[in-house]
This record gives sequence, structure tokens and C-alpha cells, in this order.
Amino acid sequence: MQADLLVFNAAQVLTLASPSGPKRGRAMADVGLIRDGAVAVRDGRILEVGASDDLLHRVNADCSLDAGGRVVMPGFVDPHTHLVWAGERADEFQMRLAGASYMEIMAAGGGIMSTVRQTRAASVDELVAQTEPRLARMLAHGTTTVEIKTGYGLTTQDELKQLAAIRQLQSQSPATLVPTFLGAHAVPAEYRGRAEEYVDLVCAEMLPAMVAADPRPFCDVFCEDGAFSLDQSRRILETARALGFGLKIHVDEFKPLGGTRLAVELGAISADHLVCTTPAELELLARSDTIAVALPGTPFGLGHQAYTPARTLIEAGGAVALATDCNPGTCWCESMQLMIALACRAMKMTPGEAISAATINAAHAVGLGDEVGSLEPGKRADLLLLDAPTYLHLGYRFGTNLAWETVVGGKRLV
Ligand code: NIG
Ligand code: FE
Repeated sequence: MQADLLVFNAAQVLTLASPSGPKRGRAMADVGLIRDGAVAVRDGRILEVGASDDLLHRVNADCSLDAGGRVVMPGFVDPHTHLVWAGERADEFQMRLAGASYMEIMAAGGGIMSTVRQTRAASVDELVAQTEPRLARMLAHGTTTVEIKTGYGLTTQDELKQLAAIRQLQSQSPATLVPTFLGAHAVPAEYRGRAEEYVDLVCAEMLPAMVAADPRPFCDVFCEDGAFSLDQSRRILETARALGFGLKIHVDEFKPLGGTRLAVELGAISADHLVCTTPAELELLARSDTIAVALPGTPFGLGHQAYTPARTLIEAGGAVALATDCNPGTCWCESMQLMIALACRAMKMTPGEAISAATINAAHAVGLGDEVGSLEPGKRADLLLLDAPTYLHLGYRFGTNLAWETVVGGKRLV
């Protein structure tokens, strides 16, 4: 059998194979472990995964990569980020340490609006230049697919500018980027006290403009006291759904407004945050096809004690994914490895469950479950080689980068 690349001599290959959709409940613990494994790649796709002895024997590869007893797994999928922004907000970190809350800072005109001001003032090229190093750090930490939200423009033109920046980044990066429209991230200052009018603008002008610019879009809303109410969220998401958007929602980050029930009712692809979701809604979510995206870097970044009750969701048979939420306010962190370490400690997930959440389930959370997130024949050859003898080192170790080598679309990242 002819291959372009053979990665062999892996102590463990984690396939994360899950042919019938995301991993739910107990199945999340199964990483599809093959000992002494190998992966063959052709034309940027996975050709075969199996025993190293067997593939070394049968595969004639142009190039081979000795994993040297390390771990080979799919590249991480980060299904919730706000990666395209200008500037920074280190001053707010200081204010929070001194006792101010995130939503108080936002209500006073800082927070998201501070980044909106900085992002509006930046050109597409400036946004790309500021985002490039963050995307490079994601790749360096083993993330090969990244969802990126708009939401720091909040005018039609500035939201389209963020989308253009995502496009330009996609044209120059080997990573797979998935854009999401988040025009309802905050009520912009010029609409203060006129939130309904801003929602009108989102529905009548922004959503049609975004759908014209992007053929397969997602739409997200920040459903929160101080951002968008449940009714406003419903209005935007129903309009988006009618226009063909897949739906995502920021729900229950600080106050439960019923957004999780809405996500399930509208058939959202994911409901994200879920820190203070009611038990009844957790149960509803776990039984639905909506993926629960936990963002443990956010409470960690805010210094809060409450995290997404992932155990409750998993034990009720739900499908949980992990993401960084990478943004300049609550969590400026590019590393899915750290999210796994946090998930194991603060959310009591096992390393296996956390890895499923950061790969195959995250792929389903961005509609790419058939394309990335597992090492199955036909899928894109996005491989991460961990400098560790067992996958348990993800979770066990933190703060050092365990990515030893990354293969993106069949090509070794240099
Ligand atoms: O997911 N909560 C809303 N949005 C982001 C934070 C964005 C920001 O503060 O800039 C989040 O935490
Ligand atoms: Fe977010």
C-alpha cells in the first residue's frame, strides 16, 4: 500500500473513533487506544490506523516519522474562541483582583466594549497581524481546528471586517478555521437603553449580510443579564435559523436565564459555558443532540469557584466538549492542554473523557464531526504527537507544552 507519510512506533495511538456521532456519557472515557500503533496518511487524509508492525510491513511510505514511543492522537479542535481582537485588557485583570466583577466592568463601559473600541479602530491587516501569533501558539500547542467568533465589531461593517480577518487568516494558516457570527455579544454603547433597536439591526441587516459573505455560518448570542435577554436571544436565533445558520449560545455563565432550554428547543449545535444551569435544564441538555461546551479556562481566568457540572452531564448521557474561550477579557489562553488539566481537576473529568471532549466532541460542536477530531480512514490527517509515554500525561501535567510534533492536513508543521 502506497502512502505519503507513515507515523510509526507510537506507544499509544488514540483513534477517538466514534462513527455514529459524538461520544456520549460513558463512551467518552474510551479514547480508542491502540498500543504500538501507526498511522498511514495519503493525500492529506488518514489512510489506515493500526499496529506499527503490521503497517511497517505493508505500507510503502514516501516519508516516515518515528514517534519514538510517544503518543499519537488527533489534533485538538477548539470549538469556542474569540481569537480575532485588537489590543488587550490587563488593566481589568487588576480591577477584578481588587474586587470588581466582570459584569460590573462591562456595565461601566469596559469589558467587551473596551475591546470593541480597539477592534473598530483596527484595519483588517492589523487584526490579522495581532491574531497571527495567537493562532500560531494554538498550533504550537496542538490545536489544528479553531472556531472563531466575531463580536468585537458590533456594526455591520466592523463585524464583516472581523469575518474578513478570519478569511485572511484561513488563507495563510494550515489550521481549519470555523467562523461564527456573534453580533449579539454586547449592546454597543451607541445603543445604550435601546437594546431592542440593536436586536432589530442584528436581525434585519447583520444576519443577511453575514450569510451573504459566508456560505456555512454559525450564529451565537451572549444570553446573559447585562447582555441579551432570553426573548432577544430567541428573536436573533430564530431569525438566524431561518436564514440557514447553525446555532450556538453563550448560556448560564453568570446568571441562569433559561438559555439552555432555548438552545435545546431551537436545536442548537452547542450550548456553551453552562456554569449555573438549572438541574432540569442540564437533564434536558444531556438528553438532546445539543453539545455541552465547557470552558474551564473562563472561571479559572476570572478566579471563580464554580465550573460546568460536567460529571452530571456525562452521567446523564450527555456529550461534552471542551474549548478555551480564548478572549482578552475572561480567558486569554491558547492551550487546549491546559483546558484538559483544568477539566480533570475542577470538573472531575477523567483524562480520557477530557480528550474526547477536546477532539471528537469538539469537532461535532463545530459541525466537522465527519472531517476532523478522530483518526479514522478518510478524515483529514491532523495528528498530534505528544512527548509523553501515555495519554494520561495530558491532564496529569500542565503548564508545559507536551506537543512534540504536529501534522496538519498530512504535512508536518515546522
Ligand atoms: O465567553 N461572555 C462573553 N464573552 C466572552 C468574553 C469576551 C470578553 O470579555 O471580551 C466569554 O467569556
Ligand atoms: Fe465566549
